[in-house]
Amino acid sequence: MTDNTQQSNEQDFVVSTVNDFRQQIIDNDKIIKQYDAKYLKLASPDVMWQSAQAVERIEQIDTTLNLYLAEKVARLRWINPQTLHVRFMNTDDESYFSYFVRNDIDYANYQPYVTEDDNSVRVLVGDYHYVIDKSTLAIHCLRDDVVQWETMLFSWAEDDSQTRLSMRMQADEACFGTGERAFGLNLRGRTLPIWNTDPGGYARGDDPINSCVPFYLGVHDKASYGVLWDDSSRAMFDLGASDSNQLTITGETKTLSVYFFVGDTVQDVMTHYVNVTGSMQMPPLWALGYHQSRYSYMSNEDVIDIAVELRSRNIPCDVIYLDIHYMDGYRVFKWDAENYGDMASMVKQLHAMNMRVVPILDPGVKVDEGYIGYDSGIENDVFIKYPDGESVAGVVWPGLCYFPDFSSQKTRDWWAENLSTLVETGIDGIWNDMNEPLIFGDDTPPQDLPDYAVHDKEGFGGTHQEVHNVYGTLMAQASLQALENHRPDKRQFTFTRACTAGTQRVASSWTGDNHSTWDDLHIAITTTLQMGLSGIAFTGSDIGGFMHDTTPELLTRWTQAGAFMPFFRNHSAVDVIYQEPWRFGQPYEDIMREAIQLRYRLMPMMYTAFAQHATFGTPIVRPLFMAEPNNASIRDIDDTFMLGDTLLVAPILKPSEIRRTVYLPEGDWYDFHTNERYHGGQMVRVDAPLDYIPLFVKSGTVLPLWDDLQHLSNPQIDTLKLRIYTDSGETVIYEDAGEGLAYREGDYRWVTYRAEEQTDSLTLTRTAEGDYIPTYKHIELQLIGSRSEIARIDVDGITHFDFGTDNDIYTITVDADFEEVLFKA
Ligand code: GLC
Repeated sequence: MTDNTQQSNEQDFVVSTVNDFRQQIIDNDKIIKQYDAKYLKLASPDVMWQSAQAVERIEQIDTTLNLYLAEKVARLRWINPQTLHVRFMNTDDESYFSYFVRNDIDYANYQPYVTEDDNSVRVLVGDYHYVIDKSTLAIHCLRDDVVQWETMLFSWAEDDSQTRLSMRMQADEACFGTGERAFGLNLRGRTLPIWNTDPGGYARGDDPINSCVPFYLGVHDKASYGVLWDDSSRAMFDLGASDSNQLTITGETKTLSVYFFVGDTVQDVMTHYVNVTGSMQMPPLWALGYHQSRYSYMSNEDVIDIAVELRSRNIPCDVIYLDIHYMDGYRVFKWDAENYGDMASMVKQLHAMNMRVVPILDPGVKVDEGYIGYDSGIENDVFIKYPDGESVAGVVWPGLCYFPDFSSQKTRDWWAENLSTLVETGIDGIWNDMNEPLIFGDDTPPQDLPDYAVHDKEGFGGTHQEVHNVYGTLMAQASLQALENHRPDKRQFTFTRACTAGTQRVASSWTGDNHSTWDDLHIAITTTLQMGLSGIAFTGSDIGGFMHDTTPELLTRWTQAGAFMPFFRNHSAVDVIYQEPWRFGQPYEDIMREAIQLRYRLMPMMYTAFAQHATFGTPIVRPLFMAEPNNASIRDIDDTFMLGDTLLVAPILKPSEIRRTVYLPEGDWYDFHTNERYHGGQMVRVDAPLDYIPLFVKSGTVLPLWDDLQHLSNPQIDTLKLRIYTDSGETVIYEDAGEGLAYREGDYRWVTYRAEEQTDSLTLTRTAEGDYIPTYKHIELQLIGSRSEIARIDVDGITHFDFGTDNDIYTITVDADFEEVLFKA
């Protein structure tokens, strides 16, 4: 298995099987009714609209402000000065259910101060003013009399089929969020459907794709703000397409419930957004390593061979995947007795190599009497039904399938229970696929279950139209439940193809079926950044590209860029050449090993970015403009990104390119490889031969590094390296055990390193907050870019003259709990 001569006939098999089943569908009228391509449009576009009428009276109860209109009540609630929930209710209906929002939000902290005159109601909450026009219900959110965001109209269709919000966009407003979008980063001028769709492989411009998040993020000179359309039904976000200054959100729903968030920076807005939609739990550290996958490794032996090969070639790796061929005829819960017979022993062997195993699950349950998934599903009545009570059938990999109604706790329990045997083999996580949900159709994708199929919707009852967008997340939640049932003390790893608002609470994700092209590499960056700006930051692409044969150069450049992405998995389709890092020989193998190793070395910084996301909602990788928020001219840049607060990555995205220009935000930057110092606020041109990825560190950073590791299972770090990039600055590093839940009880710490540069010295101070005690006892300090020659180093008051000097880098090893180090000329 070391070259690319091995090709598979599997695709022929799959296609002909799928065609057979497609014929069955075409023969079946009931099923063919599903292929209604209205997913991109909203029902009845010619509907008559009416907007909120004048306010007749107002009423304040604690933190809630009720505005009484002729037939409805607009209820406004502030969670904090920056977060406002507006919901329209019929006067007789108080019920509220949201799939997106945490159910334990504390509303009690901020008391709004409300006044009114003939024209408006004014609400003061903290530093923010909310001014509501009594005749139109337009809301202006102001700070220091400056508009932060403004709504125009709240409207509903007269036939109750749709609701709508329109807002005015600022002239310089740039538009982000809304999930995975295969466009440039700034989405202004686009119309974006909210309807999770598997396009069967996508390219730039295909829309919608697998994960649509009904969250909009606007960035303009005066503020950043967010809008969560709090309803899971099909919706449309018009970001200045019909009217260049107007944002219009239309939903195919009766609900009109919207959360508004505001902040000085994108970071603030994301913090408020995850406060409402929930935060990511810290994943196990190993999930941040390199992952190796393919559709599929065909047997136990193949999987072990791949693991052995990775280890023998010293290519760091933590996770290996089982794609659909491990299953018994693609039957979920079951595995192939012949090729994957002793699953537990395979898992054990892989664990002995510190390799983790993650199998795929698809939601479709084969219609097949005698198969436990089908029989127990029927017995427990878990499948989605037509209104007449018959189960909805559709074709996916196993052939004709029924689909679990994950919108019911009973179904999630059933799913988790049926996964017991698989989970007990020791598998380490679950990959949730095909959960838009997709069914194969007779020609053009996408193919959805019928809108009118019936769901439990957590006991409230609902249609597929209402549940479709949350289906993937609910499946991931059920899989998570299976893992938690069996190992409640561990951190879990689940990821899902289809996401929605709040998915970060239960799963990470990847960006679906891309192609092995250079433009797909570029899109991989944009989609990952956009997902981070939609609250689901633990995301990444199929490295090397999924469909079509990759090339050695593309795979190498993709691996280099992917090494800085939150989710780092090489994955490829069944009919393409193998693309594990060694398949193309040298120099590619060495270069990819180095890129992967660099990720492992930088892991303390990567892990910190994960902890910032878990704690504050900050994206893990961030668009460049977040490093220079007031510069409107860089809001479109999506070929360069930041990892955490301090690293700037400028990957090569074109074939044969060995130089590129990079915009460095204001401040000074060091080239990570050469230590050359650059002034920011300008474009610089850098060399990037194939073995080199342009990487810059913000001056003043204290960059933690680990030694080379092959895996992240319980790493025993003896000495932490800290590179101090001369300047004044502060770096915060998060540390915990990387596994287990003790961190939830306070067993973690944030360590702050502060560098203070004076004319002839630099002082480094260290403060730690939190109980966690790391494994390392020593820290090797490296001072880089000192502007004067260092003569002595004082460590907690004790002077040393014996330190390393090499290429103007001054090195000294100190105790890990030092308080202050002075580098003096
Ligand atoms: C879907 C997934 C892909 C997987 C394949 C087979 O296309 O997106 O990642 O390999 O199904 O399971």
